[in-house]
Amino acid sequence: MPKNLFVVGVGPGSLKYLTDSAKDAIHKSHYIAGYKYALTIVETILDRHIQEIYEITMKTQEDIYRNIYSKMNDDEYCAIPFTGDVNFSESEVVDRLLELFGNDNVEIIPGISSIQVAAAKSKVPLDKAQIITFHVSGDIEQKKLELIKAVSDRKSVILLPRPWAKDRTKEFMQSEIAIFLKANGIDTSNLNTWVFENLTINDKETIFKGKVNDLEGRKFSELSVMVIDQVKRQTYLEFG
Ligand SMILES: C[S@@+](CC[C@H](N)C(=O)[O-])C[C@H]1O[C@@H](n2cnc3c(N)ncnc32)[C@H](O)[C@@H]1O
Repeated sequence: MPKNLFVVGVGPGSLKYLTDSAKDAIHKSHYIAGYKYALTIVETILDRHIQEIYEITMKTQEDIYRNIYSKMNDDEYCAIPFTGDVNFSESEVVDRLLELFGNDNVEIIPGISSIQVAAAKSKVPLDKAQIITFHVSGDIEQKKLELIKAVSDRKSVILLPRPWAKDRTKEFMQSEIAIFLKANGIDTSNLNTWVFENLTINDKETIFKGKVNDLEGRKFSELSVMVIDQVKRQTYLEFG
């Protein structure tokens, strides 16, 4: 029997957005490894007397995954919780886990993404928006072009900015995004935007609503989603 891995989306912050499937996977697993924030979300359903819990960082994750894999007996389960949905903006890590455990031994449990919650709060339907994550380690130049094209094509955009505390030149947060769009000929004084910080986290959630040019020079949390709202309402009544 193989060593089994659950890759689990645990929602953007509140236990209210944690599915029963995610809970089952976590309860079934002897080993749990996750980033601090993801572990915080599921803390109350972990059993630290029985389960082995590992907090990982970008630096330690490879060693910890390998260590767990070598310790696991056949037929045991490990769960890796990810914030939001596993299938959005997590592939750099998920691809490594598929490689390590073997594609067929990994079950992905989807979660509720921060972008879904932002879509709900701004009332911008996902299917009418361009969804972009800048929260990647790799090159983002192509994604920047997609952003300009979407905005020029009058599409809404729901995006994750890129924080980069160790190298501010790599950051692409709301202020940089606003300046970038203006520099590329977009009239940002006429473009509606929302910024949602700390979504679903009690008492910490904030909502900014304004024009994109208002974002220049403003600082927002790493834990934020930006929406460029160009939605046009269109009901079934228009289609006879
Ligand atoms: C590596 S990406 C993971 C995205 C995640 N898989 C998802 O579906 O939401 C991390 C980024 O997601 C966004 N994010 C995650 N949780 C959030 C929350 N509670 N509120 C606002 N943004 C959040 C932030 O932009 C954060 O920097």
